[in-house]
Amino acid sequence: MTLPIQIVPSVLPCDFARLGAEIEALDAAGVDYFQWDVMDGQFVPNLTFGPDIIAAARKHTKKPFEAHLMVLTPDVLAARYVEAGCSRLIVHVEACPHLHRTLGNISSMGANAAVALNPHTPVDEVEHALDLVDMVLVMTVNPGFGGQSYIASMEPKIAELRSLIERRGLSDRVNIEVDGGIGPTTIAGAVAAGANVLIAGSALFRYGEGLEFAVSDLRAKALAARG
Ligand code: DX5
Repeated sequence: MTLPIQIVPSVLPCDFARLGAEIEALDAAGVDYFQWDVMDGQFVPNLTFGPDIIAAARKHTKKPFEAHLMVLTPDVLAARYVEAGCSRLIVHVEACPHLHRTLGNISSMGANAAVALNPHTPVDEVEHALDLVDMVLVMTVNPGFGGQSYIASMEPKIAELRSLIERRGLSDRVNIEVDGGIGPTTIAGAVAAGANVLIAGSALFRYGEGLEFAVSDLRAKALAARG
């Protein structure tokens, strides 16, 4: 069974002064769930959402939240983001010397565990942890900022990950998410390579026709690319 296409907004480009209303608008536009780009100013040169901000936004939608932890200390922070209402935590393999233990701890908190790879990081860094995750995030930009250009050379890496997941018999359990520069001209390449969860940030807000059209257009392009 192939896992469904999911269109997931990054909250990063939202108007932070109207976060609740922005979450409600994205929910109404038909997104599948929400991704919070958590940055600590050390793992990446930017600082974003503490758990209290996510907790405050929780009441504005019933759809799931995931936290993309671009932080140096995921083991220290993980529980706070689960308590804030995130049902999946994504940790960076580059920040986890004991990845097995970190993923197991997240699962023991009742959240789904996922792992992210920066553009330079090879797929085999997560090969021996695939049984502990429900998703692998392949970054298609260098993490830290929205609005960057899609790194198309990540597509062979996405395809390599897809075939590894298939070889391990995990295609019905492990999603492939891509994040960074996903929009109407790049989503097809990411899906054709094997991604099924597409993070869109700035592209959603660039459509003149509005958010609902943006979400449905990206979904249609992704489904067409899957064939
Ligand atoms: C990078 C962030 C961005 C964001 C999406 O650290 O993770 O990739 O979510 O940004 P866009 O869709 O604007 O490239």
